[in-house]
Amino acid sequence: MTNPLRIWHPFTQEALDPAPLRISHAKGVYLYTDDGRRILDAISSWWTNIHGHCHPAIMSAIAEQTSKMDHVLLAGFSHPKIEELAVLLRKAIPAPLESIFFSDDGSTAVEVALKIAVQYWQNVGRPQKRSIVALEHAYHGDTVGAMSASDRSAFTAPFSSMMFPVHRVHSAYCYRCPVGKTRATCDIDCVAQLAALLAEKHDEIAAVIVEPLLQGAGGMIVHPREFLQRVRQLCTEHNVLLIADEVLTGFGRCGKMFACELAGVVPDLMCLSKGITGGVLPLAATVCTEEIHRAFISQDRMRAFYHGHSYTGNPLAAAAAVASFKIFENEPVFERISSISQIHQQRLAEIQNNPAVGDVRSIGTVAAIELRADDAGYFSRLRPNLHKFFLDAGILLRPLGNVIYVLPPYCITADELHFVHDRIAASLARIPEWSSFPANASAQSA
Ligand SMILES: Cc1ncc(COP(=O)(O)O)c(C=O)c1O
Repeated sequence: MTNPLRIWHPFTQEALDPAPLRISHAKGVYLYTDDGRRILDAISSWWTNIHGHCHPAIMSAIAEQTSKMDHVLLAGFSHPKIEELAVLLRKAIPAPLESIFFSDDGSTAVEVALKIAVQYWQNVGRPQKRSIVALEHAYHGDTVGAMSASDRSAFTAPFSSMMFPVHRVHSAYCYRCPVGKTRATCDIDCVAQLAALLAEKHDEIAAVIVEPLLQGAGGMIVHPREFLQRVRQLCTEHNVLLIADEVLTGFGRCGKMFACELAGVVPDLMCLSKGITGGVLPLAATVCTEEIHRAFISQDRMRAFYHGHSYTGNPLAAAAAVASFKIFENEPVFERISSISQIHQQRLAEIQNNPAVGDVRSIGTVAAIELRADDAGYFSRLRPNLHKFFLDAGILLRPLGNVIYVLPPYCITADELHFVHDRIAASLARIPEWSSFPANASAQSA
């Protein structure tokens, strides 16, 4: 029996995938296995960890909180830690975002945003505005609402009967441009589809949801800033809410506290999770403008937002989040982010002309290499081969099919990051063994 404990692991095909690695402890950028191996966590444990594992300030903040209070429901109650966190969050988010609805993880932050958007229009007397627009290649989580907003894929196929329909529009995936342009010749023409949709159907559309500037699980696709700016403009023109899912991009991941800031864009709702606690405990927040929040405050009970999760606003998670904010204040976090970004750019430039490489992309602390492959996509043969190759070298990387990406905790040193890029460069020589691709393959065919 390979799995005597019967732990059902996520995103795992037990019959085919290697047995899970048992990690006994973690520190900084490293995970340590039971048998004494050290593995560099170059994907921040599913994109959550930002300051390194077991950062002492976060660990002691949690320990201190455990001596005061474990948990209390947030309906009809409040507590000092969640209030301290609310003050810090409100300082960090761009105006006019200011109301905060707490939940537990990225998917719930998205569910909350979608539900707030739909109920908002009912509360202001426009119930016909209830459909959602989302992008091709989007990923917003695995619960049913978040899955509905995510692009359809092999992962969502078994649940097609459960998902609600959304309007799907082009994303700015420049390497595989949906309208056949190149960056040199385009004027963000891919946004024309959204423009036409909103012009025609704005009366029935509640919100557009995007992953700002970086579509993560869809392949680490980096959008030109103008794309987000145009989406914002169109939403404003047509009186449609803009939801920015910053679950991955928030808390410095893309170079600023929030990716929207890089484009000078303020959404109407923003979803936050992952890095909010430094990647230590589950917590999420959906933030919105006061105008949206106000539409729920009424003498009519039915205007309230009847949504909540048991662990909403958990004090231990809030203590971790407060400590993480303090690390941003007390340590040179943005200097670290900027050094990572420079190394990524330098190392990607060195490999971009390798025949195995189709495209290289980077934003902030994220670097991605899209490999040419005859079976491009999540189930590419490259994925398991690359994963093993990196693990054998002591690095945790989980390629998204034929896309290798690096997304490290910000405390990674220059030497450690160069080591990761060295191994990626070395892996390129092995690509022809694992996947064939035509020598002159164009982006579209590869
Ligand atoms: C952009 C985005 N939104 C939402 C989610 C879902 O977050 P969670 O896995 O915490 O539910 C993810 C997870 O990767 C994500 O990348």
